Amino acid sequence: MSTIPNCTATAIKDAANTLIKGDLVAFPTETVYGLGADATNEGAVSRVYEVKGRPKGHPLIVHISSIEHLDKWVKDIPEYAVKLARIFWPGSMTLILPRTDLAKDFITGGQDNVGIRVPSHTVARALLKEFEDQGGLGVAAPSANRFGAVSPTTATAVEIELSDFLSENDQILDGGYCSIGVESTIINCTQNKPSILRPGAITKEMIENTLDIIIDLNTSYSESNQIKAAGLLESHYAPKAKVFLTGSPILGDGFIALASFATPAGAVRIAAPKTNEEFAQILYEAFRLTDTKGLERLFVIPPTGDGIAVAINDRLTKSAFDKWIT
Ligand code: TXA
Ligand code: MG
Repeated sequence: MSTIPNCTATAIKDAANTLIKGDLVAFPTETVYGLGADATNEGAVSRVYEVKGRPKGHPLIVHISSIEHLDKWVKDIPEYAVKLARIFWPGSMTLILPRTDLAKDFITGGQDNVGIRVPSHTVARALLKEFEDQGGLGVAAPSANRFGAVSPTTATAVEIELSDFLSENDQILDGGYCSIGVESTIINCTQNKPSILRPGAITKEMIENTLDIIIDLNTSYSESNQIKAAGLLESHYAPKAKVFLTGSPILGDGFIALASFATPAGAVRIAAPKTNEEFAQILYEAFRLTDTKGLERLFVIPPTGDGIAVAINDRLTKSAFDKWIT
């Protein structure tokens, strides 16, 4: 495995060729780093599952360079989904739509739909464009972390997560920090009306204002929503430290809150973001720092309000979930 520090045009060409050959490339997006594989290559995709340690059957998101390639992967696209795609792509939004034959069971976990996204990060866009110019059709990319762990928002975090599992020919493209810091908003577009499966930076209000309707936030797994999504498991996105969203830290416990909250006596301040946007951006690195410091407990004061606060609270609740019952 090699990490590529400068994403020059030559480096991007080489990375695209790595994907075409069936090897893996971790790359930055505006949300988090993804672990990319040619979405039409079953062998390459199965390596993504191995490297992540992710159980088979959890579907992957296909990344394309532009809305023009949408019809290759999905069909029967409702008008509202076309509108969302036109307005929010490139960007941090994934649409779940009925699949074409190109989206095989090994991508969709056997479901009749597929998740698709056009990211906005310049390195991601250049890589996808070059991959398509070399004959590729789409890049399957889950977040570049081990299953159940925290998504990486830097190339170093990808190395820490995956270097033991990547092979010699795989690459990590270093494109710096991810500006948003939490994963894309996932919208189920397989029904008459859209619903949000995973909140992100494209918020409920933004979608409602665009479509002029009220939509549901459906972020817990249930048999009835008939949609499989690893991020819908109740426990996910967790650091090794126990996460507490209520109560007070004592000596040596980690503490994350907006800068307006003072650090309780004896607590170790891990992060003090000034805004909710910054909170999202630093959240996963703050989780990693807590673990690097070897802290066993992390107290977080969740941000309040709408917008990106909803996504932060979703991740915080999931990161804290199983910690309460053990
Ligand atoms: O921001 C993101 O979406 C990042 C970057 C790399 O694009 N990707 C990402 O992928 O977060 P992943 O696999 O870590 O999380 C995607 C979630 C998973 O919970 C997966 O189960 C769900 O989306 N998902 C993917 N395709 C789906 C589908 N067809 N139906 C339902 N859920 C799906
Ligand atoms: Mg993930």
